[in-house]
Parts: sequence; C-alpha cells; structure tokens
Amino acid sequence: MTPIRVALLGCGTVGREVVRLLRDHADELAARAGAPVELAGVAVRRPHKHADLADLLTQDASGLVTRDDVDVVVEVIGGIEPARSLLLEALKAGKSVVTANKALLAEDGPTLAEAADASGVDLYYEAAVAGAIPLLRSLRESLAGDRITRVAGIVNGTTNFILSAMTASGSSYADALEEATRLGYAEADPSADVDGYDAASKAAILASLAFHTRVTANDVHCEGIRSVTSADIVAAAGMGCVIKLVAICERTPPDGTSPESVSARVYPAMIPAAHPLASVDGAFNAVFVEAEAAGQMMFYGQGAGGAPTASAVLGDLVAVARNRVGGGRAPRESAYASLPVRPIGTVRTRYHVSLDVNDRAGVLAAIAGEFAHRGVSIAAVRQTGGGNGGEAARLVVVTHAAPEAALAATVDVLAGLDVVRGVDSVLRVEDLGRKGVAG
Ligand code: NDP
Ligand code: HSE
Repeated sequence: MTPIRVALLGCGTVGREVVRLLRDHADELAARAGAPVELAGVAVRRPHKHADLADLLTQDASGLVTRDDVDVVVEVIGGIEPARSLLLEALKAGKSVVTANKALLAEDGPTLAEAADASGVDLYYEAAVAGAIPLLRSLRESLAGDRITRVAGIVNGTTNFILSAMTASGSSYADALEEATRLGYAEADPSADVDGYDAASKAAILASLAFHTRVTANDVHCEGIRSVTSADIVAAAGMGCVIKLVAICERTPPDGTSPESVSARVYPAMIPAAHPLASVDGAFNAVFVEAEAAGQMMFYGQGAGGAPTASAVLGDLVAVARNRVGGGRAPRESAYASLPVRPIGTVRTRYHVSLDVNDRAGVLAAIAGEFAHRGVSIAAVRQTGGGNGGEAARLVVVTHAAPEAALAATVDVLAGLDVVRGVDSVLRVEDLGRKGVAG
C-alpha cells in the first residue's frame, strides 16, 4: 500500500508522544488505517534538542508543509502565528490537517474550515478540547441526529487541580497554584489557564460544534479563578456545593421577545456536590452534554498531557488515512443554524453574594430593596456574627435566577451603600441540569 506521509509541526510535550505512538504502533496503525502511516519530516525551532530525529528534522516548516511527499500535516506548535499561516499553506496545497491548537481554532476556525473545503481535504481537531476524551467526534458525528441543548464541563485541568486542592486541604489559591506548578500541571506563566482563556477557547469550539453556529473566543464571557478564596470554598460547602471553573454552552429557546440563541461562558461557579461534575478532581476533565433525544451524558478522562493528547491526534490521523484509502471526507464545518450569541448580560444565572455589613435595624431591608428594585428575587438570606451593638456581621444572599446584568448592577450598588462595609465575594450558582442547591 502507498504510505500516508505525515509532516509533524512541533515536537514538544504532545509532538514527542505523537512520534512515539507512530513508531510503537506502526503495524497496528497500518492495519487500522489501510496503509502505513509514516513520518515525512518534523519541523521544530531548535533542532539540537531533537537529535534522535536526525534526518527528519527541519527548521523550514513552510517548506515541509508544501512538500510533494507529504499527505497530511499535524500541527502541535500552538498559538496563532506561525501556526495559522502554515496550516493555510498546507490546506491550500491539498494536505489534510490534524491540529490540537484550540487557541487558533477558537480565533479563526472558520477560515481553516473554508480552506479545507476549498481544497477538498480534511480538517480534524479532536485533541483541541479535553485531550484524550473523544468528545468532539461525539458532538460532530454521534449526536449529529439529535438537538444538543447544553454542553457544560470542566475543560481545564490546571484550574481543576488548583480548585480540588483548595477544596481537599483548605489551602489558599496561592499555595494550591504553587503546588500545581511544582508538580508540572501549571506552566511558569499560568495566565492562560487561571484567567480562563484556555477554557474559553474550548468553550467556543464546543458551542460551535454543538449548536451549528460560529462561536469565537471573543463571544465567550470569561472569568478566571484568581479571586477564589478559601472562604468561598467553605461557603460553597455550606450550600452543599463545590466550586469548579465551568465552561457552559447553552441553547436558549425563543420566547415572546427574543429569538432562539446560544451563549458560552467560563467562570468559577458553585455547583451541587451531587452533580457528576463535582466529583471530577485533580487534573481530569469532564463534560456533561444534554441533548433532546439522548438525554444527559458525561464524558470523563485526561484532558491534557503528552500521551493522552497524542492519542486523540493519532485517532484523527487514522481517520485521515482511512479517508484517503477509502475515498471519504471528514465532516465539513456545520454552521447553518447561525444562531445569535446572547450578550452575557441577558444570560440568566443565580448569585451567591457575601457581604460584610453593619448589624443594625434596617440594613437587611435596605439590601433586599436593592435586589427588589432590579427585579432580582432573593432565594435565601443568612447572617452570621454581629450583635445588638451594631457590630460587623456577614450577610449571605442567594438569589433565584435573574439576568446577569441585573445581578451585576445590584452588586455594584450594594458596594456603595453606607451599611455595606464590603462585598466579600460574588459567585454564580449553577445547577447544570441537576436540582438540589440549598436555598
Ligand atoms: P510545547 O511548547 O511543548 O511544544 C511546542 C513545539 O513547537 C516545540 O517542539 C517547538 O520547537 C515547536 N515550535 C515552536 N515554534 C515553532 C516554529 N515557529 N516552527 C516550528 N516549530 C515550532 O507545546 P505542547 O506540545 O504542550 O502543545 C502543542 C499544542 O497542543 C498546543 O496547541 C496546545 O494547546 C495543544 N495541547 C496541548 C496539551 C498538553 O497537555 N500539552 C493538551 C491539549 C492540547 P522546539 O522543541 O524546538 O522548541
Ligand atoms: N493547559 C490545559 C489544561 C491543557 O490545564 O487543561 C491543554 O488544553
């Protein structure tokens, strides 16, 4: 059989494992793909670090992706440039592409999809979201006959490790981050993970596939975990909840005033301890999918790491090889629904607001009045501390679901009230399809 020849762009954490699996599993891959899958070349920045790859190495990635003896390009460099230009060159030259690059797909996925379509080649990116978990293929193919209503999950292992450590040991955010860094989960610059951008890129990809609508990273409301405190973790436990950084993609049916729409958001939220996502600890990922006919499903596994991510890349490579051998094509981009993306202010959620207040007659009424004034219904109020002498007390207000904008405006006003000494924390409370949150 004519071999399928692979150009590998990048040979770091993921790329090295792609090389290893291609070599170690060569016979099985050939049997499954219908043809041998061989490395044609490997492009890196610093060849001296990759001496074992000898003749395969090049620093000329652009030359490699257009070489006549290359059938498919695997991109595991990361970032926007030069990855985007290299992949567009490759697609234009008629090479199929497999990429793990969520940042690029979330920023400019449609351009890559259009280029693949124009050349009649494949674009696969299973590794871009939730590493080894076969999630994108499930959304794109297995659930193609259903109507997905929600995709919600833990799609960032670093932040899940940090929040799990804070929950298990009561450690501070700073200490948990330090441990994550020491164990190699968090990078030296952890911003993309802890500020939520990595999860937001993944949310954009998930929402696009689930709702047949182009959703980019800019459409995703994104908040990270830097401000989550040990006190928040304790407060969540008091509500029968745990705090997770969740990515939530939802389809909202039309109502009297608004058309059908989608939303995508990433933030730390209290979720019920009984929810299947609550027990996902450490660096694992899990995604909860709800579809009209299929009902609720959960996908769980390793969302990062060289070998797990390379497993997803290899699965895509076999798909490309099978298509070339058997004459098929990858499913094309499906964006026909083109639903509007809701602004975050109109998304309905619940809040848990913790206030440092003066314990005096009328304080609760003043605070409750601000919620009422903006149409936000209070579900529960709890006070701790204080006394008859007007000392400081902690007041926790849990709301029913209300538009984000109304809740945010209420919190802004509360912060300026004389009777409020400080707003200690504001966290969303998300049921994620399961009831049972206290209050
Ligand atoms: P690394 O930083 O470990 O590796 C990047 C590789 O790209 C290196 O080999 C580097 O070369 C090479 N490279 C960088 N710039 C260029 C360039 N201009 N031309 C050619 N090669 C270049 O990244 P990862 O392996 O961790 O990640 C790769 C991709 O996979 C990213 O998109 C990431 O988001 C995604 N991903 C990663 C996961 C993980 O757990 N690591 C999980 C899921 C997805 P050199 O070695 O010479 O420096
Ligand atoms: N940095 C990501 C995480 C892995 O912590 O989950 C790559 O997607």
